[in-house]
Amino acid sequence: MLRPHLSRGRLVSALTGKAIDPPPIWLMRQAGRYLPEYRDARAKAGSFLDLCLNPALATEVTLQPLRRFDLDAAIVFSDILMVPHALGQKVEFIEGEGPKLAPLHHAEDLARLDPVAAERRFAPVYETLARIGPELPDGVPVIGFCGAPWTVATYMVEGGGSKEQAEARLWAYRDPASFQQLIDLLVEASIGYLRGQVEAGAGVLQIFDSWAGNLSDDEFARWCIHPTRAIVAGVRAAFPDIPIIGFPRGCGASAERYAQETEIDAIGCDTSTSLAYMRETLQGRLTVQGNLDPLVLVAGGAPLDRRTKEILARLSDRPFVFNLGHGILPETPPEHVARLVELVKRKA
Ligand code: CP3
Repeated sequence: MLRPHLSRGRLVSALTGKAIDPPPIWLMRQAGRYLPEYRDARAKAGSFLDLCLNPALATEVTLQPLRRFDLDAAIVFSDILMVPHALGQKVEFIEGEGPKLAPLHHAEDLARLDPVAAERRFAPVYETLARIGPELPDGVPVIGFCGAPWTVATYMVEGGGSKEQAEARLWAYRDPASFQQLIDLLVEASIGYLRGQVEAGAGVLQIFDSWAGNLSDDEFARWCIHPTRAIVAGVRAAFPDIPIIGFPRGCGASAERYAQETEIDAIGCDTSTSLAYMRETLQGRLTVQGNLDPLVLVAGGAPLDRRTKEILARLSDRPFVFNLGHGILPETPPEHVARLVELVKRKA
């Protein structure tokens, strides 16, 4: 029997609104330090950015988790801070400290960013995508991604990660016009970057808004929803059918409005989103993705089995993609990932 939705692959079918049994699974940050083979490749590359910009090694680490686990997608090995790097901001990843950027302080600093040079600087990521495609089995797409403008702007303004994103929020309150210029610049760069990734072979896109959780209503609409909607529209103008997942981490009950107004195909839910809200409020409207606690995956054993089965029981008869509620942690034992994938595929 011809089953056209399955020939497109399990993830894409779920993202276009089908309930797939068992549901597709991939994991945010599935390539990374919890895998010894990643640590070897990372040591060979030198810095983290050198690894992202080396197509042969970036292809290798993208494929590593798929060699071990029966995952339904690869995600291109890169970082959301590739966009500020491409715009000419100094970005470094310091071992044990996370990213450090030369922070933007005022409207005048925006003149230091160079959108024209950005496309050229994205070329190694496109090259990586072009190399990954032919290595994947039929129906297993490679996911392209970017950070949402708000989240990327917080790193650019703070000069790194921050607990409260206070500098970015203050800038946005005190001088919304120039903050809007930064956001607009990121929207344009992200549209170009995502289109380039689809041209190079990405079959699905995800927009990571990891710091969406600290904004009140109007700010959430202006700095998260509107820019995301603009990116979705800009990408779809060139690629009307590309499935797009939004991940507005921490946005709580604003998720419904985000889903409605951005026109994404699927919403990634963080660990604190209740399964009842995912099922009753979100799943009737769009595909949901999530939301196992990355720490349950570190713990393993009975808590991992119990929660995985609970998530499957509550969500998998409707359009659903199994994932974590945030990225996989470096201390995660790879055997626990293997167990999780078996549970989701009902082989355990
Ligand atoms: O999912 C994947 O496997 C693809 C690769 C990927 C990375 N970062 C690789 C990475 C993806 C999709 C990201 C997204 C990302 N990067 C986000 C959004 C998701 C989230 O976790 O909230 C954010 C906020 C960043 C910014 C970033 N990059 C931080 C804060 C850090 C340091 C903290 C950390 O987790 O190490 C990074 C570095 C980074 N990005 C590493 C990896 C594998 C570790 C670098 C190393 O090997 O030393």
